[in-house]
This record gives sequence, structure tokens and C-alpha cells, in this order.
Amino acid sequence: MNSREILYREMLEALSVDKEYISQAAGAFRWDLKQGLKGSEDSSLQMLPSYIGLPEGSEVGEYLALDFGGSNVRASVVQLQGNGCIDVLKLVARPLVTEDYNYIDKSSSAEKLFGMIADIIIEAVNQDREKTYLLGHTFSFGAKQIDINKASLINWSKEFAVPGVEGKDVNELLAAALMSKGYGNIKPVAIINDTVAVLLAAAYVNPDTRIGMIYATGSNSCYMESMPDVGRPSCIINTESGGFSKLIPAKWDLMLDKLSEKPGQQRLEKMVSGRYMGQLYGMMVSELLGLNEVPDFSSVDMSEIMADQSDRLSAAKKVISEKLPAKELSVEELKWLQELAEAIAVRSARLVAAVVAGTLWHLAGTGRINPQHIAVDGSVYQHMPHVKENLLKALYEVLGDEAAGLQVERIKDGSSIGAAIAAAVASQQQ
Ligand code: BGC
Repeated sequence: MNSREILYREMLEALSVDKEYISQAAGAFRWDLKQGLKGSEDSSLQMLPSYIGLPEGSEVGEYLALDFGGSNVRASVVQLQGNGCIDVLKLVARPLVTEDYNYIDKSSSAEKLFGMIADIIIEAVNQDREKTYLLGHTFSFGAKQIDINKASLINWSKEFAVPGVEGKDVNELLAAALMSKGYGNIKPVAIINDTVAVLLAAAYVNPDTRIGMIYATGSNSCYMESMPDVGRPSCIINTESGGFSKLIPAKWDLMLDKLSEKPGQQRLEKMVSGRYMGQLYGMMVSELLGLNEVPDFSSVDMSEIMADQSDRLSAAKKVISEKLPAKELSVEELKWLQELAEAIAVRSARLVAAVVAGTLWHLAGTGRINPQHIAVDGSVYQHMPHVKENLLKALYEVLGDEAAGLQVERIKDGSSIGAAIAAAVASQQQ
């Protein structure tokens, strides 16, 4: 074995998480859930109450839904028809970053960002200033909630860095932006995390759903906590599982964390989510090939590299050559780079499975895990090769036959539908 091959083997070894490791991680996650509920500082989970429970399935009406926190902002008009039926009547979506503008970095501001979001919402209602619209806001960041309609951003994540939003009441910023444009008729009445939105959307159709997950640019989970500590309402808890920090990071995880906007935070998210996997891959490829620079891979590039089933890996080669124009790679080297991408994706899926298993244990208490649906949405889950099957495989490894009653289901448009359900629930409470 030459030194490069030795390094390659070491990398695969550093990324591998066996059954024992996932079981321990799931146990540690369960412990953090419990401690976090009590507010203990020993937990790495924020355990944020959402002030909303599971829907009845009978909520009806037309609502505006805002989905903010991924690559695109989406505003939609959603009609809830009851009996698990939902129609998305209109959708307006726009990216937050293009070659011409960037609404999410340090050069942006709260006014610019919420002004842009307000414009999208206004387009979704066809510039109507007359009718009253009730809006549910899916806000995909950790927020301290004190009511269904009151939440302040704790910290940005996913490399968002807009000044002037952390610590602020987010729906107040949104309402002010709408008002300043003359649209006081659009009323934000609810704000929820995207995991909560996915759980609401799923439970509207399958009432046995207790866990909601996002596996995309960011990564997070929530679950229905029916036995909270005295003094807290029974409600869905946003765990902010991306902040789980009781895992042993590999050398490259530490390097990536150091270079990020918020070092020390979102440790699990930086190991598993779409925003970071490509960067991790670039760092490992750079070291493996002895490059002077870190190539700029995205998780979408990784997916394309992994999807190539051909002998000569010509599609994978095309993606890699675009990032490494000066490098002529042999088929064997291409194969290594493909396997490296796979190892990162498989690790990601297995670590996410640990979160699911830990949450299921928490929900089951001392009993068996109930058969149930588990709701998940997100680009990584939907599109990245190896992810779905490895998540399930890991659940079977850790939970044994209890995994047989689980149905992991992707929820399409969960963020928008969940926001509409939250708006419906909030307006009933008023
Ligand atoms: C945020 C979560 C969110 C997740 C998925 C994370 O960075 O902290 O609140 O649910 O991304 O969008």
C-alpha cells in the first residue's frame, strides 16, 4: 500500500460508524432529550417548546404559508379541506442567494431580508390589499417561543449571518415589513420550526405520527411530548438536534467547524446536513490528493458523483474535473473519490438514524416502540444516493424487530402545509 492508499483507508475508517456507535449515540441522544426537558445545562439539546400540539385533521380554510430558512423563500396559498385533504393553490418561490444578490450574509440587513420576503408574500396574494389573510410562518431556525405567534431567533445557523435579527421577534419584523408596504391586511398569526411544520402536515393525514424531521440544507427533529415537566404545556418540542454534540468528531469535522460562521455550534448538523457535506468532502479530497486548495464541492455534486454506476465513471469524472481542472485522475482514483462521498453520505444517514432511535426510545419510555409513521422532508433525504436505505438499515440494526412497525415517510410541501395548519390552529385559539 502506498501512503495515499493508507490515508484513504484511514479516512474511510474515520467515517465509519458501527452498530455499537449508533446505539451509544442514540442512548446519549435520549439522555440529552430528558435532561434538556428539565432545562439542564448538561444537555446539548435546546428542547424548544412550540406552543402547538398535533392537529385534529379537521382544520379547514384557506391560509397563507411562508417557508423561510432553506435556499429558497416560498409563499403559498394553502387550502385545508379536512379529512387529510390539502391543496396548494398558489406558490411563489425565490432564491435567497444568486450571482446578483445575497440576502443572507453579513452584507444584508433585517430590513432588506424581510422586505424581500414581504414582496414574495405580496406576489402570492396578487397585490390584494383588501381581504384579510392569516399567515403561518415556517421559520427554520432555533427560536425561543413564548406563544404560537411569538418567537425570537436565538442564533442563525446554516451560515446565515444577517445582522439585526438574532434576539428579535421574527413575526414582528415580518408584520412591520408588510405594514410598511401597505399590506396590514396580511396578518402573521403563527410561527413554527420547519420540523414542526413537517410533523403537523404528516399528522394531519396520519394521526399516529409523533416525530418530524428535516434532512436538507440543515438538519433537525421535533416530536410530540405528551408528558412534559410540570408547568409546561404538552406540545411539540423542537429538539434542535443539529446541535447535538456528544459524538466523537473526525479531524475534518473539527477543521470544518473552525472555519464556519459559528464554531462550536451545530456539531451534528455539520456532520450530516446538505450545507456542510460537500465542504467536508472537499477538505478530504484536498488532503487525499495533496492539493494546495480545497475544491468547492456541494452535496449535489456528491450526489452526482455517487449516482454514476458506469465502469469508467465518466459522469463522476465530469463533475470532479470541473472542480479540479488541473488534475488528471485514473479510474482507480475516481473510484476512491466516489467511495469517499459514499462514506460521508452513509455516516450522515446512520447518525440521523441515531437521533430517530433515541427519540423513539424516549417516546416509548419503559415499553415497546409503537408502530408509527415518522415524517421527514428535505433534499438530502429525497435526493442523495444511499441515504434512505442506510437510515432504515441503521434503525433495524439498533431497534431490531421493533423497527418493523416504523414507516418513514417523506412529506411533500410539509413546510407550507404545516404553516397553514398552524395558522388554522392559532386562529381557532383566538
Ligand atoms: C436549524 C433548525 C432547522 C434546521 C432545518 C437548522 O440549522 O437550527 O431550526 O430546523 O436547520 O432547516
